[in-house]
Amino acid sequence: MTTTLPVTGDRFKPYDVVVGRGLLAELGTRVAPLVRGRTVIITDETVALLHGPAALASLQAGGVRARLLTVPPGENSKSFAELERVIDRLLDFGLDRRDLVIALGGGVVGDLAGLAAALYMRGIDVVQVPTTLLAQVDSSVGGKTAIDTPRGKNLVGAFHQPRLVVADIDLLATLPERQIRSGWAEVLKHGLICDAAFFDWLAGEGAVGSLGDPAALTRAVVRSVEIKSAIVGEDEKEAGRRALLNLGHTFGHAIEAELGFDEDALTHGEAVALGCALAFRYSAAINLCATADADRVSAVLAAAGLPTRLDQAGALSAVGLLARMAGDKKAEGGRLTLILARAIGDALVDKAVDRDAVLDFLRSEGAA
Ligand code: GLY
Repeated sequence: MTTTLPVTGDRFKPYDVVVGRGLLAELGTRVAPLVRGRTVIITDETVALLHGPAALASLQAGGVRARLLTVPPGENSKSFAELERVIDRLLDFGLDRRDLVIALGGGVVGDLAGLAAALYMRGIDVVQVPTTLLAQVDSSVGGKTAIDTPRGKNLVGAFHQPRLVVADIDLLATLPERQIRSGWAEVLKHGLICDAAFFDWLAGEGAVGSLGDPAALTRAVVRSVEIKSAIVGEDEKEAGRRALLNLGHTFGHAIEAELGFDEDALTHGEAVALGCALAFRYSAAINLCATADADRVSAVLAAAGLPTRLDQAGALSAVGLLARMAGDKKAEGGRLTLILARAIGDALVDKAVDRDAVLDFLRSEGAA
């Protein structure tokens, strides 16, 4: 069964997120109505081998002219150098403003191709075809695009909403289990933000989805996209409510940064899981939420094979983590902004977090 979820907002053209099985074979017919000229599929070398031929064949069958542009896999491709190379290749191909870019891949490809599309000739259309669970439930929806600089991740980017998102659950079958579990962290995050019943389902019968059951994965992706698109529709540019989607990210990002963004040590999803556990324990420590809720969050994350304690990430310094958190681009005017929770399914944005209290908390969590 295929589910079509509209993403609408006052400030951008509405688009659909299509979730289901076997959708790569339908890419051509789904993209054809959006194409006035040609398309370029931007993907990485790994995904190109797995899904490039099927994507090209589908586009050809749909009467869409397409060619493939590959980038090296991995976060290093989110760089000025790779962005320039991609834009040069689009110029070599003679792409013009009627043409369309298809981002086929995980978060790295989606962010890089999305930004290239946002900049190319002041903006051409992009269709996102996410191939990881993390990209299907988070990065492909909502129009955030970015590259990294040596000073930090995602520091250069643009909001550029896609024309269409095609999330084929079957593409997740080739993902390593660790990648599925990492994406599952973002799924759990959506329940923690605003849907306790969804979190209950994820904690119970839905948990099989983390092991790759397509029906459970479909339900998890659909509900995640519903939650995310409702928030993005209200607040595209993160002036307010969209910040809720950063639950677990300020702690998580600081930990990733302290570990030098070493995905072998800690994936982004694992960092988000650990960050969610910390955000709930901090909320309990300041009596905002019940300790029982914080304990349950950790238990559910741990049952999904995700880290919940700082010592699982490595030896970390409380001062180092706090400095990273204060330098986060969500920090406003030097104050610390954290996404905290009153309960499971009831997150809030706190823009005036006490740094000393966070420092004490990080020490109580075992940071040196
Ligand atoms: N990943 C958080 C957001 O898209 O706002």
